[in-house]
Amino acid sequence: MSQATPAPRSREGSRDNGLAVRAAAARALAPVITGKGSLTGLDDHQVVARDRALFKALCYGTCRTLPRLEALAGTLLAKPFKARDADVQALLLLGIHQLLYLRIPAHAAVGETAGAARLLGKEWATRVLNGCLRRLQRESAELQAEVDHDPAVALLHPRWWLKALRQAWPDDWRAICEANNIPGPMTLRINRRHGDREMYLERLAAAGIEARLCAHAPDGLTLEAPRDVEVLPGFAEGHVSVQDESAQLTAVLLGPSLAPRPGARVLDACCAPGGKTAHLLELFDIDLQAVDSDAARLARVEDTLTRLGLAATLAEGDATTRDWWDGTFFDAILLDAPCSGSGVIRRHPDIKRLRRPSDIPRLAELQARLLDNLWPLLRPGGTLLYATCSVLPEENAEQIERFLARTPEAVVTTPADMAWGRAAGTGRQLLPQPDSHDGFFYARLEKHPA
Ligand SMILES: C[S@@+](CC[C@H](N)C(=O)[O-])C[C@H]1O[C@@H](n2cnc3c(N)ncnc32)[C@H](O)[C@@H]1O
Repeated sequence: MSQATPAPRSREGSRDNGLAVRAAAARALAPVITGKGSLTGLDDHQVVARDRALFKALCYGTCRTLPRLEALAGTLLAKPFKARDADVQALLLLGIHQLLYLRIPAHAAVGETAGAARLLGKEWATRVLNGCLRRLQRESAELQAEVDHDPAVALLHPRWWLKALRQAWPDDWRAICEANNIPGPMTLRINRRHGDREMYLERLAAAGIEARLCAHAPDGLTLEAPRDVEVLPGFAEGHVSVQDESAQLTAVLLGPSLAPRPGARVLDACCAPGGKTAHLLELFDIDLQAVDSDAARLARVEDTLTRLGLAATLAEGDATTRDWWDGTFFDAILLDAPCSGSGVIRRHPDIKRLRRPSDIPRLAELQARLLDNLWPLLRPGGTLLYATCSVLPEENAEQIERFLARTPEAVVTTPADMAWGRAAGTGRQLLPQPDSHDGFFYARLEKHPA
């Protein structure tokens, strides 16, 4: 498995920072491993600038490889840590992750991880952690072979996820798991109001940044290696944004309804953090209303539109109700529905730990309510694009099949001849691809003219 590997730390005087970054990572991970919190909004400012890449690599990498790390921890520990010592357990997992996956000198991985227990106020754990990690160094191959008998460990997914993926994709589930275990590439979306992607590719080359054109998204470029957005030419001026290739296909699918209708009234019903809102506004002269029920996420839409110099009507609202609607019908509706995120596990590996099997029917029910509530707001002849970043049919093809069965005036217009994804019922399914796009689903529906 390829993992981002931070530069080795060897300089004198870096030990204190080495301890601090591991203690910070343990604090960030403790809520995730106990299923109580996520990595969203991970605050890397609690560590010094030169350790931020290491901090992120530790947190995300440990989450990504959790099933194997936990199985090894179970073998290494004579008895599990108490529930109140989840931060110490996190340190052990971090230490195992470093030894197995990162090119960090073993003495630093062991010494600085065990030593970080002191910064957590738990000096007693230093010896235990040292002992476990040293044993792993000596017996790594045997211990890994032992735990890897369990497919959940070997494929780094909890059993229920494996079952759901195998059931949905009998021929592809292994490839999906493998793609989920590799960090996704960093893909950019060029703001066409400032030029095309070929021009931007040249600007990147001039800045010494290697990139290639996306195969399917006409505004997309994928970087050969992730970069801080601050180093991207024109980022602050709104010339470019970060957005996966799959997500950019929204504009391809809505384009035929929007391009010929300047001023079209468009609803983006679950808009935050605003990637698709912004893309549509960059490409089409439309009157866009963007709604989201999460005020904090909605604020991010506002920031993004400000950076890009774009405007929309933003409303905090619940799209299963119509409190926010002014009574004027929409020419097009984008419903990028809340979902399991099963297509973007490689970008949000904490999903594997935080989702529960019962979340899937609960989300499917919410998606159905959103569809039923929004459909009447579409004018006859208008288009609704349903999207999820899920690979589970219950949220995707089956969801749309059920909607069509109860909505006779809905006509499927999902194009059958796209070079991307595969036909899935009346929609199109993309599965996550290493070095390319995320997992995503689209179904395009038109309201039969009255
Ligand atoms: C998949 S994300 C949308 C991503 C966004 N379209 C983009 O491209 O950046 C789903 C969004 O739905 C919002 N959401 C969840 N339930 C909602 C509801 N009942 N009404 C409105 N928004 C909702 C969430 O807050 C979340 O921001």
